[in-house]
Amino acid sequence: MKYRIKEVSERLALPVSTIRHWQSQFPNAIKPLRTVGGQRRYTDADLRTFKEIKVLVYEKKLTISEVRSQLNERPGNGAEVDWSGKTILLTGGTGSFGKHFCKVLLEKHNPKAIRVYSRDELKQFEMRQEFNDDPRLRFFIGDVRDGNRLRRAMEGVDFVVHAAAMKQVPACEYNPLEAVKTNVHGAVNIIDAALDTKVSKVVALSTDKAVNPANLYGATKLCSDKLITQANAYSGDKGTRFACVRYGNVIGSRGSVIPLFKKQRKTGSITITDDRMTRFWICLDDAVKLVLNAFRYMEGGEIFVPRIPSMRITDLAKAIAPECEVKHIGIRPGEKLHEALTGEDEGRHTVAYKGMYVIMPASSWWERRNYIDAKKLPPDFVYTSDNNEDWMSVEELRAIAYPNGIEESAANLKLVS
Ligand SMILES: NC(=O)c1ccc[n+]([C@@H]2O[C@H](COP(=O)([O-])OP(=O)(O)OC[C@H]3O[C@@H](n4cnc5c(N)ncnc54)[C@H](OP(=O)(O)O)[C@@H]3O)[C@@H](O)[C@H]2O)c1
Repeated sequence: MKYRIKEVSERLALPVSTIRHWQSQFPNAIKPLRTVGGQRRYTDADLRTFKEIKVLVYEKKLTISEVRSQLNERPGNGAEVDWSGKTILLTGGTGSFGKHFCKVLLEKHNPKAIRVYSRDELKQFEMRQEFNDDPRLRFFIGDVRDGNRLRRAMEGVDFVVHAAAMKQVPACEYNPLEAVKTNVHGAVNIIDAALDTKVSKVVALSTDKAVNPANLYGATKLCSDKLITQANAYSGDKGTRFACVRYGNVIGSRGSVIPLFKKQRKTGSITITDDRMTRFWICLDDAVKLVLNAFRYMEGGEIFVPRIPSMRITDLAKAIAPECEVKHIGIRPGEKLHEALTGEDEGRHTVAYKGMYVIMPASSWWERRNYIDAKKLPPDFVYTSDNNEDWMSVEELRAIAYPNGIEESAANLKLVS
């Protein structure tokens, strides 16, 4: 239904002047449509928002600015998140992503506290030192397999970033039940604890390996994605919203190919599985930006995918170790020639939005307020590392691998060898 301003005024028993005033005060929350002639037509969602404001102003006696900050926190209005004063639980906080997330948040967004949640006390000790004992960082020892501990750690938390995972493909293949316990049961525990403690928003990190999974790591992450996006169905009046972000290899993260090639370079030869192989690449800065954007735009149930460049494995080898002999060792079990960030069955639900692809949930739990200016994609749309329009050159890859120049690194290499 579409309502004229007079109809809204009658339905809510509010003067037209108040409707006009509130609309000017809450441009992110109230978004009437326009007729061809430019007249406003209010939607049911707008009507609900007016009702909400009426209760907050007249019954709860909140000021307009207090109401504004309450509505800004509501999922789906696209307003920038105000992180100051927020308490965040970050599982896997001592990992590559986690540490960078803390760095960006503490430097630029001044949260009240970030609770780093992980198992190994040594990594936490080292991180505490690296961050100069920043009092906004709190360190919680805990395993995502332990639901009670998670529930305690989430008390008083506004947002959860779930980055803890078992992520090494061979380790997951060799210890399948352990991968299921951390990546799948862990996700269930995150959902239960977040609902029980009324956390506002949860964003979980996924991977390209979850699309048409060829290994157990990918399969556990696909399962986790489904659990997280579907968890919105349980949130009811608790209001917790859940979403995922999904991206490809992180440049230089622990256990990734750049440190491997650099190490192999010292021996004079490097190993490549298959010359045709391509991969997506993302830097940690962009991974953190993606998570912050997910918190900003999520309404619940989405998977946010960044538009990132691809690279050929042969170009990476040329960039890191141009003088080395290349040994071909054949594709490893569970490895793919090319990775995908959206699957064939996801194309129908995917839109292009704010420089990202957003995979919408197949079932929608509530009316969408966001994504009004999103671009629909063809139903057969897939985003794979070999059909990408954006490629990284050898020079770009080299600049990332050797920020101080490859010559300087070669000199160090001689010293080492
Ligand atoms: N790196 C990539 O290339 C990449 C690409 C796409 C997606 N991702 C996803 O991004 C997320 C973060 O990856 P990352 O590269 O930062 O990983 P990482 O560097 O290996 O860090 C993993 C973190 O998780 C913690 N952890 C592992 N198992 C845990 C458990 N059972 N309970 C609690 N904490 C646990 C680890 O600390 P403790 O060992 O001390 O517990 C560590 O803090 C993962 O979900 C991964 O799937 C990564």
